[in-house]
Amino acid sequence: IKSVTLHDLGKMRAAGEKIAMLTCYDASFASLCEHAGVDVLLVGDSLGNVLQGQTSTLPVTLEHMVYHTACVARGSKRPWLITDMPFGSYHESREQAMRNAATLMAAGAHMVKLEGGAFMAETVRFLVERGVPVCAHIGLTPQSVFQLGGYRVQGKTEESAQHMRDDALALEQAGAAMVVLEMVPAQLATALTQSLTTMATIGIGAGKDTHGQVLVLHDMLGVYPGRKARFVRNFMDGAASIEAAVASYVAAVKDGSFPAVEHTY
Ligand code: KIV
Ligand code: NA
Repeated sequence: IKSVTLHDLGKMRAAGEKIAMLTCYDASFASLCEHAGVDVLLVGDSLGNVLQGQTSTLPVTLEHMVYHTACVARGSKRPWLITDMPFGSYHESREQAMRNAATLMAAGAHMVKLEGGAFMAETVRFLVERGVPVCAHIGLTPQSVFQLGGYRVQGKTEESAQHMRDDALALEQAGAAMVVLEMVPAQLATALTQSLTTMATIGIGAGKDTHGQVLVLHDMLGVYPGRKARFVRNFMDGAASIEAAVASYVAAVKDGSFPAVEHTY
């Protein structure tokens, strides 16, 4: 099986082929997602919520991320594999970020993801120059939930929207190849996507015009007992199997039918 490369993802971005991404935490689901046609697997620190039962992602450690990355890497061959850098593992210095990113890459990650805007640009550049592809994450950044005052839509005021545009540009210039836009008004996500020249935008609650979409696996299969966010669609509705549900997610992302207006801010 041929593995998806950063070059392939760049070609998809350029051709307007939507990138279908899902979170994944273990080998069995990694294999299932691969067979269902998922392009990118994210070992998200959302595992704190959906696997560990935590109320935030803050207690997740580097060791947890290493363990789940190795599990997913053993279960799949084709998908591009991104691992979240957990809270506190990249904030002290770019050297700390590089050391911990190297540990995640050694566990099987192809790219690391970190939360934050322009203030993270220097760290992003440091990693990219040293061979570590980086996915940024702006908008609602769950590791900052206590600073933000809850899980809410970001970029609603003109001032915060401008701030987000500046952040995206700084991250692109620093070399981030991808950025997750979480809980961002669709209009802003569309404008951001059009204004960037190399960085691929992956939306979650950011409308249909981003270069790709991501959801948390447990949310889109309807297994997470917590509150269901507006941007989540349960793909098990009407599906004959878990693999069929994941395949219908991939199809809906590719043909632009997900997300619909009811999933959008
Ligand atoms: O941890 C996670 O699942 C994420 C996605 C929501 C993008 O960061
Ligand atoms: Na995350």
